[in-house]
Amino acid sequence: MDIKPIRQYIEYLKLSGINNVFLSSFSAKKTPIDLESLAKIYSNCEKCTLYKGRIKFVYGEGDPQTKLMLIGEGPGADENVTGRPFVGKAGQLLTKMLKAINIKRNEVYITNVIKCRPPENRNPLPMEIKTCLPYLEEQISIIKPVIILILGRVAADALLKMNTTLTKYRENIHFYNGIKTYVTYHPSALLRNPGWKKYAWIDLQKLRDDYNNLEY
Ligand code: URA
Repeated sequence: MDIKPIRQYIEYLKLSGINNVFLSSFSAKKTPIDLESLAKIYSNCEKCTLYKGRIKFVYGEGDPQTKLMLIGEGPGADENVTGRPFVGKAGQLLTKMLKAINIKRNEVYITNVIKCRPPENRNPLPMEIKTCLPYLEEQISIIKPVIILILGRVAADALLKMNTTLTKYRENIHFYNGIKTYVTYHPSALLRNPGWKKYAWIDLQKLRDDYNNLEY
């Protein structure tokens, strides 16, 4: 934000003999919008049939003021039970991946493209993604991250809509609504193919350098 005009205006006020200005609800940070309240409102969603297998709606969690948002595919069994994203085996690996680049889990915001678990962990159907996407779009517009990290091809296709391979997605930095967006392997894929971890590490290092260079 360019604060020069504000300074000039304050100078002008001073010169006009005004020494005090009361600002009722001014905040230099982003407006805090209560994502937890939104999660409660949406938690009984029945817009698609996935609610039938739902134990808990998995909206997302983390710091709503963060500059970095992580987006996975959809809740698995553990997430369905706890209502928290990425808490199962893949989630534990994700937490370790973040730790490896000195990022604490609670300093980012973690969510998924779809908020209810598909049966047997199948890939979400295009209709389910389309129906659920407005929740994610709203989360992104509230959080206004500076960087997004997409985990896996399904989430990448849902947001970037290039319908390409993960390898191709990883080749470039993307812009989702003007937000710098990285794509890397889904941690579940890394659990199945540990040999890919070296490539994920390359992606994570790029992300870390970018994140560390952000101005606060
Ligand atoms: N896989 C995902 O994509 N998201 C989760 O929350 C857990 C596993």
